[in-house]
Amino acid sequence: MYTQLEQRGMPQPPVNVATLRKMKAEGTPIACLTAYDASFAVLVDAAGTDLVLVGDSLGMVIQGFDTTVPVTVDDVIYHTRAVSRGLRRAFLVADMPFMSYTEPGQALDNAVRLMQDGGAMMIKLEGGEGQIEIVEHLARHDIPVCAHLGLKPQSVHKIGGFRVQGREPDQAREMLESAQRLQDSGADIVLLECVPNEVGKAITEALEVPVIGIGAGPNVDGQILVLYDVLDITQGRTPRFVRNFQQDHDSPLAALSAYVTAVKDHSYPAPEHCFS
Ligand code: KIV
Repeated sequence: MYTQLEQRGMPQPPVNVATLRKMKAEGTPIACLTAYDASFAVLVDAAGTDLVLVGDSLGMVIQGFDTTVPVTVDDVIYHTRAVSRGLRRAFLVADMPFMSYTEPGQALDNAVRLMQDGGAMMIKLEGGEGQIEIVEHLARHDIPVCAHLGLKPQSVHKIGGFRVQGREPDQAREMLESAQRLQDSGADIVLLECVPNEVGKAITEALEVPVIGIGAGPNVDGQILVLYDVLDITQGRTPRFVRNFQQDHDSPLAALSAYVTAVKDHSYPAPEHCFS
């Protein structure tokens, strides 16, 4: 009964939550990318990416908005369904959009839709202390959860811009405590965006679950970047942590493979991509 799920006729078995935990335990870097459609999902998977996120960044890179705030659950389901058709090995995570998890019942309903209609294997929500009850409720129903801390783009209007978080000692301590409480509440992964290296390192060392960073320095369990930033499709100014992998490669697949290799051999992120 389980053979089909575990093998699906592939050279390498599909990645699951246990694989990701084992990678953390063994110190094997976890290479992650976003994707939004089936064609790129095929390439991202072929490049050896371990985890693929259908991020609400789709509001910015696909739909052309300035923020992720306008993205809806239906939007994420549409793109998750497309990505799921292109993946063979990578673990598929889908974002819970703005205001889709304000209370436990609503969060559970929307998470179920992302998994049943979209094909996601885990959902991601932007959370801190305020989301503990939501994470507990989802975990109690066996919904795998990734909790996103640090810069939370859905709160951009409250924060006042896309800026590094956790520079002040009190803020860093609070983030560490939140990460621990989210793990204790049932989060299976913590994602840290735009925090100083020291904060990324402290949280990674404190947690048993994998910590994936984007602009969180080199001392985390894995790295994630927005696909269009890696391929230099994004127009205008990109954040400091972005590296353009397309410039030295003649195909998107070669660029994506170079990204995965750089994460695995620790050559990405370099000091110029980090905040300290
Ligand atoms: O929406 C997204 O793509 C994300 C990444 C920036 C991690 O949350």
